[in-house]
Amino acid sequence: MKSFKRLVALLAVIMLVISLAACGNGTKSTVGQDTGGSKESGGEASGTTDGADAAGDGLVVVGFSQVGAESDWRTANTESMKATFVEGNGYQLIFDDAQQKQENQIKAVRNFIQQDVDYIVIAPVTETGWDTVLQEAKEAGIPVIIVDRMIDVSDDSLFTAWVGSNFLQEGYNAVEWLADYLESKGRADEQINIVTLQGTIGSSAQIGRTDGFAEKMAAYPNWTMLEKQTGEFTQSRGQEVMESFLKSYDDIDVVIAENDNMAFGAIDAIKAAGKTCGPDGDIIIVSFDAVAAAFDAMIAGDMNVSIECNPLHGPRVAEIIQKLEAGETVDKLQYVDEGVFPAETAAEIKPTRAY
Ligand code: AHR
Repeated sequence: MKSFKRLVALLAVIMLVISLAACGNGTKSTVGQDTGGSKESGGEASGTTDGADAAGDGLVVVGFSQVGAESDWRTANTESMKATFVEGNGYQLIFDDAQQKQENQIKAVRNFIQQDVDYIVIAPVTETGWDTVLQEAKEAGIPVIIVDRMIDVSDDSLFTAWVGSNFLQEGYNAVEWLADYLESKGRADEQINIVTLQGTIGSSAQIGRTDGFAEKMAAYPNWTMLEKQTGEFTQSRGQEVMESFLKSYDDIDVVIAENDNMAFGAIDAIKAAGKTCGPDGDIIIVSFDAVAAAFDAMIAGDMNVSIECNPLHGPRVAEIIQKLEAGETVDKLQYVDEGVFPAETAAEIKPTRAY
């Protein structure tokens, strides 16, 4: 469909050039001008690139609405997308940072539609609230690819494919690791008090990790969830929420931080409160993402484990687009394989990590 669209655009361009030349009025065609590199607009997809213009250059135009820059994981994800969707690989990227606000993402998608991009890629902040704008994209004939977190829409034809993590499985992995760890320390029958720093409420990463942990921890009646509160996936909020947990409870055994950056904030709060954490400390820290700084925290002895969430989606999204360009079908849902990295393996594994 896109090849046909591009052919029509190309023919229109050729006809325009011929007619302008015939008129001899010296008006300059704008075709191929100012494709300008990726554009960042802080919540406004204000790029000037016209999809048909870039198509005239043979580039596939991709509008990408990114959640924000709340974590190391997100930075790695943005870098992966930006490194993949470059002109050298045949792409024109229009990048938009939504600053963690869905309303900005919706605005960005509408701008992408207006610019008639070839593909819209969304890393959605939350799961719900997408039906209307995706219906608009569908009516404009622009395929939508969802990356990282999932969306919850009434009609699955509103997106072409999704690639990301199995967040529920990540929650299961956390329980499995914790149960094995407590067993290995001879603490399997002890009363274990847990607090959770949740991610952005309503995001797949929060929902999956919270639900996966809750479901599997039901098998351990001696584990108590003292409290769950959102730290918005940021280090500063993670620290603030942990400070309040430490004021409310003096018997916390385990912190579940639904991402590494909140774990870093929690570690700072624990140390400031005169307590210790990590394999030899008072409090066990279980985290998610496995970014480079988490390996440093494990090597420093502050964190016990990080459950992997892989952010390197650029090449995965590009593969989907290439298949669609070639007229092939793609799997609707594509899960990424992920591991579990405990502190004992951190020093050995860290040099092999790409983010
Ligand atoms: O959706 C993935 C999550 O979003 C990562 O765990 C977190 O760090 C990020 O902000």
